[in-house]
Amino acid sequence: MTILPRTPLLALAAAAFTLIGATGAQAQGQPLKVGLMLPYTGTFAALGTAIENGFRLYVNEQGGKLGGRSIEFVKVDDESDPAKATDNVNKLVKRDNVDVIIGTVHSGVAMAMAKVAKDSNTLLIVPNAGADAVTGPMCAPNIFRSSFSNWQPGYAMGEVVAKRGHKKVVTITWKYAAGDESVRGFKDAFEKAGGQVVKELNLPFPNVEFQALLTEIAATKPDAVYTFFAGGGAVKFVKDYAAAGLKRSIPLYGAGFLTDGTLEAQGADADGLMTTLHYADAMNTPRDNQFRLEYAKAYKLQPDVYAVQGYDAAQMLGVGLAATKGDVSKKAEFAAAVQKARIDSPRGAFTVSKAHNPVQDIYLRQVSGKENKLVGVATKALADPARGCRM
Ligand code: PHB
Repeated sequence: MTILPRTPLLALAAAAFTLIGATGAQAQGQPLKVGLMLPYTGTFAALGTAIENGFRLYVNEQGGKLGGRSIEFVKVDDESDPAKATDNVNKLVKRDNVDVIIGTVHSGVAMAMAKVAKDSNTLLIVPNAGADAVTGPMCAPNIFRSSFSNWQPGYAMGEVVAKRGHKKVVTITWKYAAGDESVRGFKDAFEKAGGQVVKELNLPFPNVEFQALLTEIAATKPDAVYTFFAGGGAVKFVKDYAAAGLKRSIPLYGAGFLTDGTLEAQGADADGLMTTLHYADAMNTPRDNQFRLEYAKAYKLQPDVYAVQGYDAAQMLGVGLAATKGDVSKKAEFAAAVQKARIDSPRGAFTVSKAHNPVQDIYLRQVSGKENKLVGVATKALADPARGCRM
């Protein structure tokens, strides 16, 4: 039998305590590890880059520090592939030991990220993916979104299309959370106002073989079409819709991703399209003008909604870190600060709901001269219903 002498054990325990104590304090002097999990390949590749650009722009404007801590980036390309999502996010959490995860674009991938973030109590800020569940049943004190819920732009467009006198609408989208939920938001408002969705057309993500579905739309002859597509898929859909001759006969409406970051590639085929979103080109506010100028200077590119959401993810992180003096382990203080804040976004200031989703104006925009021109506010201070969030 081995009897350990008392003193060394106590000394060991004391040493361990000192070590642990030092780790917390030291961590604040060390760079904050930010894990960027975004699509850098595939149909959403440009969206991932814009989000990263926006995030870095805000950090650079703060002299490279948030909450007194310099920032170190670790990056993972999630390929917008839900099948690889859990492994990818675990690389950031377990291998790289990041302090916060920023991601992603695709709703299916984001739901896997939210599960890992919740289970590991890692801070997560979603800078695009609208998956209703992230700020619904999966909501958590350490999970935030700087963008929108899929329901929000859809709901606003349902009101617009009804007001414009359309009665019968066909919807068309990718069959996954973002498409389904965007259509649900649209239907919630459109059917409440007396409209009818007569057909819901789908194809698997990220397919772009639209021909058979466009033929079906032509045969159905609805008053209008509502759609959710984004990125490379949105470019092809808008071009195919025009090429099929439908643009002349059946008005096309969409969640604003249809024409955001895509107008160079869509050209004249996008002209005149009306969409709803929480941002527009040339909002012409001092805040947005300054943001657009700085973004264009830094990247030789015009910003889009994705750039704004990345920028605002960094702002939200900055608010939380300022309140906790850079200590990400203080989750309750972090959350309280973000919930109290008005985020000074280029889209217009917004607040964050109890479920941690932006409460924001949704704008009606119309494409003209390669810009999503602001027509007006479609729905003011729209809050996601946060169905299923208990927090
Ligand atoms: C999503 O999957 O939630 C999603 C993807 C691209 C967008 C918007 C939403 O532009």
